[in-house]
Amino acid sequence: MKEEILILPPEELKRQKGFAKKVRALINRPQSYHLVTYGCQMNVHDSENLAGMFEAMGMREKDKKEADVILFNTCAIRENAERKALGNIIWLNQLKKQRPELLVGVCGCMAQQEGMAQKMLKQYSFIDFAFGTGNLYQLPKIMYHTLTGGRCIEIDCPQSTLVEGMPIHRQGGHKAYVNIMYGCNNFCTYCVVPYVRGRERSRKADDIFRQAEGLLKEGVKEITLLGQNVNSYGLDRGEQDFAGLLSGLEKIGVPRIRFMTSHPKDLSHRLIEEFARNKALCPHMHLPVQSGSNAILQAMNRRYTVETYLEKARLLREARPDIGLTTDIIVAFPGETDKDFNDTLELVKIMRYDSAFTFIYSPRAGTAAEKLPGRIDKEVASERIQKLIDLQEKITQERLQSLVGSVQDVLVDGPSARGKALTGKSGRNISVNFAGDKTFVGTVQEIEITATASNTLRGKMKGR
Ligand code: SAH
Ligand code: SF4
Ligand code: F3S
Repeated sequence: MKEEILILPPEELKRQKGFAKKVRALINRPQSYHLVTYGCQMNVHDSENLAGMFEAMGMREKDKKEADVILFNTCAIRENAERKALGNIIWLNQLKKQRPELLVGVCGCMAQQEGMAQKMLKQYSFIDFAFGTGNLYQLPKIMYHTLTGGRCIEIDCPQSTLVEGMPIHRQGGHKAYVNIMYGCNNFCTYCVVPYVRGRERSRKADDIFRQAEGLLKEGVKEITLLGQNVNSYGLDRGEQDFAGLLSGLEKIGVPRIRFMTSHPKDLSHRLIEEFARNKALCPHMHLPVQSGSNAILQAMNRRYTVETYLEKARLLREARPDIGLTTDIIVAFPGETDKDFNDTLELVKIMRYDSAFTFIYSPRAGTAAEKLPGRIDKEVASERIQKLIDLQEKITQERLQSLVGSVQDVLVDGPSARGKALTGKSGRNISVNFAGDKTFVGTVQEIEITATASNTLRGKMKGR
């Protein structure tokens, strides 16, 4: 069934602008905001829009201790993500006792879960407003209602709207996030995202190109395209596919392009060819494999096999020999046997990822896997994840070591953590530290790699 996608009419954003104006006109209105963001880049980017709307309401960003409004943009991907957010939200109870005028809001994926926002407002009297992922653009209205009428909840479901032209307060300087699609249709059996982010909907390529052109004018050097499954970009529209979009962005003159996240089943030959051809594409792909066992992949509803995954990875490396691959892996999925887990270790040995995010399976309410038999013991799960981490750590070190002596194009981000050097990311998305002065920030420099240091590289500017 194809669901109708509602493109938000421009009048609706005008209406929100009207609410922002009304908030600005209120006597004793809040003057400052603080955003706490959990979860993936999607949420980080959403928070840039939320910040943009707060600014449009005449508010400035401030420290948590001083801000008049604190908004939590939450994640629901695993139980510990929820627990962390909830713990920090509850802590605000104390702050609110000291400053009763403080407003507390909760939004994002956790708030979108069925019945969750209502439950939270009922349980925690200090929460003033909550809204879902599809209601993000309504922040001005929600603030106005909260300020004039009291506690407020806005959760629409399903969230199939596509909103263009929201205010934005970017954090990234010379790097920018651009959403190319929203939602997910894949329903991997463990995953909550399709339930909290709605169905897949792609933005029009022209809207994306226009936004990219604007960012280039602002001096942006690197754009990261965002979507839960960017490889299926455009399939819902039938106009431009993902490879075509990448090619268009190169033509516009975007110097560096990255994207997140790729689903292996939709990784097309056209995209592999694009990697061989498009030099603006950074040589990095995050390609979550989740498991090295076909039985588990099937139970996860991933819709690819270990063999097809390996073949696609091989073709990618053939097309772009300097490419670095990274991944996500879940251990202790229900029914995972020792053999299944060993197959995952074997796959990791074959793939030799630059790095991997590893997770213990966390049951999520309402997902298909939640009802599966064969839950794995906590101790077994911990043992497995530790084995996997140890293996990947060894491979990561070998991968880093193999780059010593090479020259990497590094986009300089700023001073390094200890402040004595500069830091930036290589095309392969590895942090590189080197000596240099601040004037290089925001430029791409050729760095000769001289050494490794834990999970980063050290180098010096070429010719110096
Ligand atoms: N859309 C992306 C992933 C988004 S979630 C993709 O399909 O690749 C990021 C990662 O969290 C997933 O790749 C998966 O490894 C992990 N994850 C998702 N749900 C999980 C769960 N219930 N328990 C443990 N890990 C989970
Ligand atoms: Fe979740 Fe799977 Fe969609 Fe990724 S592709 S967001 S893991 S359902
Ligand atoms: Fe979390 Fe929502 Fe992202 S559940 S991982 S913030 S899409």
